[in-house]
Amino acid sequence: MFYKKTYSERRAQLRKDIEKGLIVFPANNEAAANYAGNPYPFRQDSNFLYFFGLKTPGMAGVIDVDSDTDWLYADDLTMDDIIWMGHLPKVEQQAESTGITRTGSIGDLQELLHKAALSKRKVHFVNPYRSEIAAKLASWLSVPVGKIVEMQSVELIKAIVKQRSIKSSEEIEEIENAMIIAHQMHGAAMRMAKQGVYEYQIAGALQGIAASHNGSMSFTPIVSIHGETLHNHHYGEQLCEGRMLVVDAGAETYNHYCSDITRTTPVGGKFSKKQKEIYEIVLKANMATIETVKPGVPYRDYHLNACKIIFDGLKDLGLTKGDTEEAVRSGAHALFMPHGLGHFMGLDVHDMENMGENLFGYDDEIKRSSQFGLAYLRLGRRLAQGFVLTDEPGIYFIPALIDLWESQSKFSQFINYDKIENYRDFGGIRIEDDLLITKDGAQVLGPRIPKTVEEIEAWCSVEK
Ligand code: GLY
Ligand code: MN
Repeated sequence: MFYKKTYSERRAQLRKDIEKGLIVFPANNEAAANYAGNPYPFRQDSNFLYFFGLKTPGMAGVIDVDSDTDWLYADDLTMDDIIWMGHLPKVEQQAESTGITRTGSIGDLQELLHKAALSKRKVHFVNPYRSEIAAKLASWLSVPVGKIVEMQSVELIKAIVKQRSIKSSEEIEEIENAMIIAHQMHGAAMRMAKQGVYEYQIAGALQGIAASHNGSMSFTPIVSIHGETLHNHHYGEQLCEGRMLVVDAGAETYNHYCSDITRTTPVGGKFSKKQKEIYEIVLKANMATIETVKPGVPYRDYHLNACKIIFDGLKDLGLTKGDTEEAVRSGAHALFMPHGLGHFMGLDVHDMENMGENLFGYDDEIKRSSQFGLAYLRLGRRLAQGFVLTDEPGIYFIPALIDLWESQSKFSQFINYDKIENYRDFGGIRIEDDLLITKDGAQVLGPRIPKTVEEIEAWCSVEK
């Protein structure tokens, strides 16, 4: 948790940015895995963390814009809770640690919100991603649960995004801590990428490294020799030479800030000529963003530039043909890179995604495209100093997609389907770094993780 001043200032800013009413931030609840006493590892809601900093489940924070006061609502533990789950500071003490002097019980909150609903007072909240929280809000506001989505406050979302998208120095320090863990995770994974090892052995090692830093994984890791499946969460394959291992994994610190890194390693640690050729194209696309990115330019431009580099690189290998500008404008490159170049990162690995990407990744000027590939770009708007985002181009050979497009002769003026046959079993390559947008460029966060062909081969040649 940061100093309480941080949370007080964030809430004060919100009170300035919201015209009137009450702002409610429900904390997350414990979620039962197979029965109530055996919950999933608890993860606090990121907005609650951002404005209140407390890890305790079941609380709610309220910012009363009209009376300029902040409140923490929670019930103190019962003796049964203390016996089974241990002690927690009293609600007043927890409130004090986040700069709040006013507290109430959950019953008090219920009454406050019932009254607000009756008097038609504006109650701002973000549409919850957990059904239990939606049900709670619906009961507090005396509305059917189905109405909660349409009642969410866009005014509130925009005010939250305004703050959360610009990272403070204390947040950057936390993200750097998450990068240090990711650096260890990826270094270990690369050296484990040997013939005969199972993917789950590497996935398990990564989880152990995060846990050994009192952290966790920032998302379910991708550890796969089938990197062509973008979010592959299956770990059953045995590594064999000739395949590339995609490891897309990041850590979440004890204070819940994330890292999100991808490295792709040839099994055995030595690139074949074919692997190296594709890898160098992806690396060029990744570096082009690092070298040129700056505030004021839409991230969509960097995405499109990366797509052009990929299309051109594949043209040099004979896999694509024709005019690059035209091909990328029409979306032909998406056969090889069907996802976006990157996303915001912070308290969430896809930061703020629960609030709707179109409300923070796009704006009135830059609207989301519906074109296959470009539609998956989560962040298209102009960049600003203090943004933290990922730069993660890739090239994938997805047999089902190749077959579909080929059967439709889709973009046959741009794609040499006969040449692609030689790559059907190639898999995929992705390279991902996390960038802080600075005054006139970008800083790659974290210690350097081997990334060039030479660095990876040298790193893998050392016995672990
Ligand atoms: N690291 C997974 C993703 O960005 O979707
Ligand atoms: Mn990512």
